[in-house]
Amino acid sequence: MKILVATDKPFAKVAVDGIRKEVEAAGYELVLLEKYGEKTKLLEAVKDVNAIIIRSDIIDAEVFDAAKELKIVVRAGAGYDNVDLASATARGVCVMNTPGQNSNAVAELAFGMMVMAVRNFYNGTSGTELMGKKLGIHAYGNVGRNVARVAKGFGMDIYAFDAFCPKEVIEKDGVKAVSSVEELYSTCNVVSLHIPATPETKNSINYALVNKMPKGGVLVNTARKEVINEAELIKLMEERTDLKYVTDIMPAANDEFVSKFEGRYFSTPKKMGAQTAEANINAGIAAAKQIVSFFKDGCEKFRVNK
Ligand code: 3PG
Repeated sequence: MKILVATDKPFAKVAVDGIRKEVEAAGYELVLLEKYGEKTKLLEAVKDVNAIIIRSDIIDAEVFDAAKELKIVVRAGAGYDNVDLASATARGVCVMNTPGQNSNAVAELAFGMMVMAVRNFYNGTSGTELMGKKLGIHAYGNVGRNVARVAKGFGMDIYAFDAFCPKEVIEKDGVKAVSSVEELYSTCNVVSLHIPATPETKNSINYALVNKMPKGGVLVNTARKEVINEAELIKLMEERTDLKYVTDIMPAANDEFVSKFEGRYFSTPKKMGAQTAEANINAGIAAAKQIVSFFKDGCEKFRVNK
């Protein structure tokens, strides 16, 4: 059995070592393709492998066609919008994610970005504190729950909206569950996005919604680039000079954001939310274990395609 780790943005070495240990203990071979840059290298590497571990790497129909021996793809992480699920299903390939394994890392970065925004990007001027401010958690999944946990330490007043999570689940964590997404934005000083990129959420963070935020609002995006309606957010930030946008996923219009919103905008150069040794180890080793139990026991827990 040949297991490929294909990560354009590599895991920490310690995580790769842990993955190798799991794979070799099962009697399988590990192949490593890091920082491959061009898709042709990925297409070449997948030819004879039975399983692939990926991160945000794009696995589309062309990759599936090139991978004739492929049985399983595990996205070491939460979001699997980078995998063409229909193509996987059509070719009988199982796709899984590793939910929860990198959530704390993403939540911690959300706070790093929040502090940076309310302290005026460390430009020496007086900013504000997070304590006592209203935090809106947009989607209460694994990351959202970790954000709530950390927010308590900061002394924030915590609100959440999740279309799919029962109110009781949110409220048992001491978080106020609001009834609509509009209510979340109109209530909160800081909104942190934790929604996946789906046909329903794409472009959903738009002018009308963000415009509901109170004066001095901060929007934090550690979720996905696609959920933002960039043209509308730019228009809004031009009109409302009080708003700030901090993101861990560089917008397509990054240059425009940089030139227009100095002191109110920041993007990491590369998505850093899950870039910790701990998250890499947790997600990478979980992926390796899921592959081993898929082949050895037929276990399909965390399968995301039909
Ligand atoms: C995820 O969906 O798990 C996060 O966005 C992390 O993605 P990454 O593994 O590409 O850093």
